[in-house]
Amino acid sequence: MNLGLTDKVAVITGAGKGIGLAITETLGREGARVVAGSRTRTPEIAALCERYGGAFVPVDLAEAGGPDLLVRTAAERHGRIDVLVNNLGATSARSGFLDVDDAQWQRVFDLTFFSAVRTSRAALPHLLADSGGAIVNVSSVNARLPFPTVVHYSAAKAALSNLTKALSEEFAPQGVRVNSIAPGPVRTPFWTAPGGLAETAAAGTGKSAEEALDEVVPRQMGISTGRITEPREVAELCAFLASARAANITGAEFVIDGGQIKTT
Ligand SMILES: NC(=O)c1ccc[n+]([C@@H]2O[C@H](COP(=O)([O-])OP(=O)(O)OC[C@H]3O[C@@H](n4cnc5c(N)ncnc54)[C@H](OP(=O)(O)O)[C@@H]3O)[C@@H](O)[C@H]2O)c1
Repeated sequence: MNLGLTDKVAVITGAGKGIGLAITETLGREGARVVAGSRTRTPEIAALCERYGGAFVPVDLAEAGGPDLLVRTAAERHGRIDVLVNNLGATSARSGFLDVDDAQWQRVFDLTFFSAVRTSRAALPHLLADSGGAIVNVSSVNARLPFPTVVHYSAAKAALSNLTKALSEEFAPQGVRVNSIAPGPVRTPFWTAPGGLAETAAAGTGKSAEEALDEVVPRQMGISTGRITEPREVAELCAFLASARAANITGAEFVIDGGQIKTT
């Protein structure tokens, strides 16, 4: 299927690794002009930008001025913006609600929710200018499965999913579509990095972190397909939603979790 993304200008947040990296790769392969932002210029994002003629912007998107810098760089480079992917989001696991102080709530909301608010606010005038833009927000199953160990992250993702609907309502008449993706566990450094969640899942099971990710996590989380999601699978869904193939889809959230969520 030709997605028709050739020469579309796409801004991606949190793009240095994981899902953001996969989205940058997929959009770049589809011919989009990618402008990728995160704090660290990883070898992988540098290679992708080189291969697809994209730009990398080193930026802290949890800082109030970060989103504006990223969007301004894209607009100055290309004269327009067609697609925004609000991918950035992060958390640290806590023992429960009483273990999360104000600073931790604020940090997770800055990364997961306010980065998307600020980047959308900066990008929307550009998306509206050509009347036909798209925003894709990367939310999480935790928006509707609020685990106590990530209570702050779950609330921030629920807010992001809610914002998706509000923006879709306001801007659909002007030609900008806004959708979200809600992944279950995805094989990224969020899980696989040293000290990441895969090691936590492996603790006491006699399995390696990698084995835990392939065996323990799908079982513990009730993932019906028996495996977690690959970043490429989220990226391909994102590319479809960003494209004109999804021209009449807005205000929708697409779960990609191998059947983890059991309710209708
Ligand atoms: N992995 C999962 O299982 C899963 C499941 C559901 C939803 N999600 C969501 O999917 C999205 C991507 O997750 P991921 O697992 O791919 O994350 P990841 O592997 O931890 O990658 C996060 C990316 O964001 C960048 N980043 C972190 N803090 C930043 C900041 N302050 N400013 C700019 N960039 C920053 C990181 O680079 P730097 O640190 O160098 O800046 C990195 O490139 C997130 O919204 C996450 O909540 C993930």
